[in-house]
Amino acid sequence: MTRDKNKLFAFAIEAEGRLVGSISVSRMDNVHLRTGEMGYYIGQNYWNKGYGSSAARQIVQYVFDNTDIVRIFAEPYAYNSASCRALEKAGFTFEGLLRKNAFKNGKLVDMKMYAVIKE
Ligand SMILES: CC(C)(COP(=O)(O)OP(=O)(O)OC[C@H]1O[C@@H](n2cnc3c(N)ncnc32)[C@H](O)[C@@H]1OP(=O)(O)O)[C@@H](O)C(=O)NCCC(=O)NCCS
Repeated sequence: MTRDKNKLFAFAIEAEGRLVGSISVSRMDNVHLRTGEMGYYIGQNYWNKGYGSSAARQIVQYVFDNTDIVRIFAEPYAYNSASCRALEKAGFTFEGLLRKNAFKNGKLVDMKMYAVIKE
């Protein structure tokens, strides 16, 4: 985890007067300096209310408006249909299947590459 204000853009997600989740974009290194990876999490009691996709849309806007990052991606597990759907709702495009991209609980798991580009 970095404290560099030009590398990590992290926000609490507030709704219904409560903290319901968190979201961040981390700048990549080297030739990928102008790419950011997004991660997000919503507490289970608040799923399927549009908070994840809304937060994703807002952080994309913030990062594109306030930094020189031009590409933001997310890599959900392929089976995580809710995350894939939330990303599509937030304007991300499915770019491809990352076969056996993770090793989780003793199993190789496919992931999906979603990204949004600053036009
Ligand atoms: C992924 C996550 C952030 C989504 O947040 P959210 O606030 O529930 O997302 P939204 O409500 O904006 O959108 C969810 C969409 O997925 C749909 N959905 C939910 N479960 C689904 C399923 N099993 N199959 C298909 N679609 C599903 C919802 O119906 C909704 O789409 P709709 O509005 O068209 O009906 C949340 O589920 C979460 O935190 N999960 C655990 C952590 C995680 O997976 N993080 C992402 C890692 S990449």
